Amino acid sequence: MSRATTPKAKGAPALVIAPGATIGILGGGQLGRMIALAAARLGYRCHVFAPEGDPPAGQVAAATTHADYRDHAALERFAKQVSVVTYEFENVPVETVHLLEPLVPVRPGARSLEIAQDRLNEKTFANALGIGTASFAPVDDVPSLEAALARIGTPAILKTRRLGYDGKGQATIEASSDPAEAWQAVGRAPAILEARVDFEREISVVIARALDGTLAPFVPVENRHVGGILDRTTAPAPITPTLAAEAEELAGRIVDALDHVGVLCVELFVSKAGGLLMNELAPRVHNSGHWTIDACGTSQFEQHVRAVCGLPLGSPERHSDAVMQNLIGDDVERWPALLADPGAHLHLYGKAEARPGRKMGHVTWIKPRSS
Ligand SMILES: Nc1ncnc2c1ncn2[C@@H]1O[C@H](COP(=O)(O)OP(=O)(O)O)[C@@H](O)[C@H]1O
Ligand SMILES: [Mg+2]
Repeated sequence: MSRATTPKAKGAPALVIAPGATIGILGGGQLGRMIALAAARLGYRCHVFAPEGDPPAGQVAAATTHADYRDHAALERFAKQVSVVTYEFENVPVETVHLLEPLVPVRPGARSLEIAQDRLNEKTFANALGIGTASFAPVDDVPSLEAALARIGTPAILKTRRLGYDGKGQATIEASSDPAEAWQAVGRAPAILEARVDFEREISVVIARALDGTLAPFVPVENRHVGGILDRTTAPAPITPTLAAEAEELAGRIVDALDHVGVLCVELFVSKAGGLLMNELAPRVHNSGHWTIDACGTSQFEQHVRAVCGLPLGSPERHSDAVMQNLIGDDVERWPALLADPGAHLHLYGKAEARPGRKMGHVTWIKPRSS
């Protein structure tokens, strides 16, 4: 297989992976599936590397490797078959990226993963950039939890530092709670205690950063969660232009500091006082960016493909306002009615079993731009 890349040298032009090449994707979920669909439109092939059988991304990819992220032989074979590697899952072990990096460009790089995989790293990193977060403290046992509670107070949220998603690995602590129970509830894993923010709303910024450092943020959106899982995204978020510009600037500061190449999402709280606090980072395409497929000139998935292949970014401008609704578990059974709705853009992920809490698809309604 031909490689469209040349060795990286200081001051050399960006390393372009031209259409026709194969993009390797670590992770096989719906995010990888939508990356592969966008890549196909630009003439790329994708090779999905995923530990699980029949991954949603594999259904639309040219090739799939079914192996563990720590299987060195499988990773080496994979690296030989692709021109660039990206990931759709932020819990890919950092060692996997370290193993691949000498063999093939990996974009975004290991640093984005290292920071975003660990809630303590993530918040420390944000604060060092002058970005506010909820007060937090590391927790490694019940005495350190008690000390953190004495400092931060209640209500607070105890979260595992790693591997949490969709509200999993979290326990709310009220004044009357038993700290030992909360410690038990998060599986006694290294954790972080955070003050519970009394927010006005939750927003996010999905931003792309090209290989040459060009930034392209999508407009900030509002996210409503139900039971810790994203339920609905509204684009644009109903916030002032000043706050929107502040959120976009902050996202730019984050991707620049990480030297990130690709798409990244910053989740933020808008406090009751009107300020922004960072909640968390996702160093990848994000559920709150799905609306961009139907409402923007360039979707977050195409933007990611362009960035990791060293191509110029497209315009992140939206041609429409949008509301994106996740179809979780049995919600997917609404597909016949959604198909009959002329304003609804339906996306299904090809997952066989509609388990509770499982993201099965999403639907986006668009309407003319309001502003
Ligand atoms: N410190 C906090 N204060 C208030 N609400 C929070 C806080 N942390 C998390 N939440 C709520 O829980 C949701 C999920 O938490 P998050 O930290 O984003 O973890 P996950 O990785 O599961 O998305 C958030 O979107 C928000 O609604
Ligand atoms: Mg989150």
